[in-house]
Amino acid sequence: MVESGSVTPTPAQTPRKRLEVAGRLKRLPPYLFVEMDRKKEEALKKGVDIIHLGIGDPDLPTPEPIVERAEKALRRPEHHRYPSGKGMKSLRESIAHWYKRRFSVDLNPDLEVLVLIGSKEGIGHLPLALTDPKDDVLVPNPGYPPYYSGTVLAGAHPVPFPLDEVNKYLPDFDVLEHLDTHRARLMFLNYPNNPTGAVAPLSSLKDAVEFARQRKIWLAHDNAYSEVYYGAPPPPSLLQVPGAKETAVEFHSLSKTFCMTGWRVGFAAGNAQVIKALAQVKDNYDSGVFGAIQETAQFCLDQGDEFAARIRTTFRGRKDLFVPGLRDLGYEVFEPGAGLYVWVKTPEGVASRAAAERILEETGVVCTPGSGFGDNGEGFLRFTLTAPEKRLKEALNRLEKLKW
Ligand code: MLT
Repeated sequence: MVESGSVTPTPAQTPRKRLEVAGRLKRLPPYLFVEMDRKKEEALKKGVDIIHLGIGDPDLPTPEPIVERAEKALRRPEHHRYPSGKGMKSLRESIAHWYKRRFSVDLNPDLEVLVLIGSKEGIGHLPLALTDPKDDVLVPNPGYPPYYSGTVLAGAHPVPFPLDEVNKYLPDFDVLEHLDTHRARLMFLNYPNNPTGAVAPLSSLKDAVEFARQRKIWLAHDNAYSEVYYGAPPPPSLLQVPGAKETAVEFHSLSKTFCMTGWRVGFAAGNAQVIKALAQVKDNYDSGVFGAIQETAQFCLDQGDEFAARIRTTFRGRKDLFVPGLRDLGYEVFEPGAGLYVWVKTPEGVASRAAAERILEETGVVCTPGSGFGDNGEGFLRFTLTAPEKRLKEALNRLEKLKW
């Protein structure tokens, strides 16, 4: 019993040693592109003529008719108020129509579609919706960093699984079969793949669905690059796999398809329980995508196939120039089937980071060390096709002078 006159400090009064930020941030590696930006800024300050092949941010402007549509939408007062959090019904319907047209997949726009502030936002928040602390999340290695960091921020535990060149950067389910997955709640997959440019055939996506279904694991497929493809047939949707919706959700973005990275709009589609859970998380964090952008996104999906085709042709031209160009210089390059990325082996014995730094210092070309995508990316570099052909030729000329 507390004697009268003595004062027990309440928790709020208990002195702390010092002010500190959350421990979970210490478990995150430095965010890859922030690091790269810093190095690039330093070089720019020195007056270096930088060729930006570091981040998958298209240099092409958003097609003019899309911008015009947005200008009109901007003037509509109804968009000046809070938007619909899960996305305007008309946009969700357009997403369902687009899925039907592009992938022959049926979606219920009320239950199986959610509009996102870019697919990265949904991917980052997904582990909060589907995992509890200490659950495992299977993440590809190499892989897009938010699969890992979103998992860590949710207090869950990322379990990297390897993607290897021998397997064309597809998951090896013979190996995954032996993985202890009793704590796993979620698995991320991403095809067309960042950073490698690999495209998964439907048979591989079928294996993934089967694996996830048998083990009662949610499957999250990042399909942000589905429209920037170089060959035929176009990359599939994981939701084309019969029964996929029992376990899977798929993410899309307008960022790359329509050169709209700055607009921040994407969407998730698939399992209704996952869509509902993710919407519940988002209801507590954000208030949705600006209505004018939602209206513009609807226009893109309804009427934008031609813009997407032109963008695709531009990137294909760049890929057809840059990939053989690098090979002529002696680099070993994985043939990308889609996406904005070219995945290249570092010269024998040179580590990724050291190679990227030397390339930047001696040529002014910014690329990304493969190790930033996970330790299985060590020994690789990623170049993006985000510069006009003239600049890509200039990059090749500069790289030619670099002797390893
Ligand atoms: C990348 O460079 O990997 C992408 O641009 C990142 C993104 O889409 O967020």
